[in-house]
Amino acid sequence: MALRLARPGSFLYVNFNRNETAAREALAKIRELGGDGELCRFDVADHHAVQEAVKRIIAERGHIDTLINNAGIWMGGLIVRIKESLWDQVIDTNLKGTFNCCQAVTRHMIRRCSGRIINVSSLIGEAGNAGDSVYAAAKGGIIGLTKSLARELGSRNICVNAVAPGLIETDMTAAFPADAKKDLEKEIPLGRLGSPEDVAGLVAFLASEAAAYITGQVIRVNGGLYM
Ligand SMILES: NC(=O)c1ccc[n+]([C@@H]2O[C@H](COP(=O)([O-])OP(=O)(O)OC[C@H]3O[C@@H](n4cnc5c(N)ncnc54)[C@H](O)[C@@H]3O)[C@@H](O)[C@H]2O)c1
Repeated sequence: MALRLARPGSFLYVNFNRNETAAREALAKIRELGGDGELCRFDVADHHAVQEAVKRIIAERGHIDTLINNAGIWMGGLIVRIKESLWDQVIDTNLKGTFNCCQAVTRHMIRRCSGRIINVSSLIGEAGNAGDSVYAAAKGGIIGLTKSLARELGSRNICVNAVAPGLIETDMTAAFPADAKKDLEKEIPLGRLGSPEDVAGLVAFLASEAAAYITGQVIRVNGGLYM
C-alpha cells in the first residue's frame, strides 16, 4: 500500500511494531519511487503510544491527509477452546487498534475539514468463518466503526471506508496449507488468490481525489469469492 502511494511529493509514515527490517526496506523503496517518509514504531493496541505518535507526526508535518489502518493479526480457534487472553489480543490489535488510530487522527482532520480513513476489514468480517469467531468479530466491528465514523465525520469532509480482502498471499496466509489453497482457488471466480497489489490498488483509489464522494462503504477485493 505504501509503495502504491509513493510518488514525488508524498510523505508516508510507515508504522511497524516488530519487523523493523521490513519497514526499513519499505521506506527505501518509497524513496526509490520518488516519495519520502519516516518510520514510526508503535503498537496500534497501545492507546497512549498511538496518541503520542500522532502528536509527533502533526508537530513534524502539520497534518495527516490519509490514515490506513492495516495492522492486524489472524488467530482464532473453535469457540469452546478460545482462551480469553487470545480473544483480547485479537480484539485489541484489530479492532481497538483501528479505533485508537481513527480517534487520534480525527481531531486533526476535523480541524482541517479534510481527511481520508481506510480501514482494512476482511471477507471473514462479513461472511464469518468456523474457527474464526474472534477475528470475524474484530473485522465485523471494523465495519460498524467505519460506517458510524462516515456518518459522524461526513459533514467535516472526512471520508471513511473499509476494504474487505478475501484470501491474499501475504505472510499472514503463508502457513495456510497448500491443499486448502488449491481447494479454495476452485471456489474463487477469478481462479486465484489475491496479491497485496490487488488490495493496494483499491486503497490507493480510495485515498485519491477520484474517490472524494465515496464514504461509509465496504469494498470487497476477493476475486468474487464472496458477493
Ligand atoms: N492476507 C489475507 O488473506 C487477509 C485477508 C483479509 C484481511 N487481511 C487483513 O489485511 C491486513 C494486512 O494483513 P497481511 O495479510 O498483510 O498480514 P501480515 O501479517 O503480513 O501483516 C500484518 C502487519 O501488521 C503488523 N502488526 C500486527 N500487530 C500490530 C500491532 N499491534 N501494532 C502495529 N503493527 C502490527 C504486523 O507486524 C504486520 O506487519 C490485516 O489487517 C489483515 O487482517 C488479510
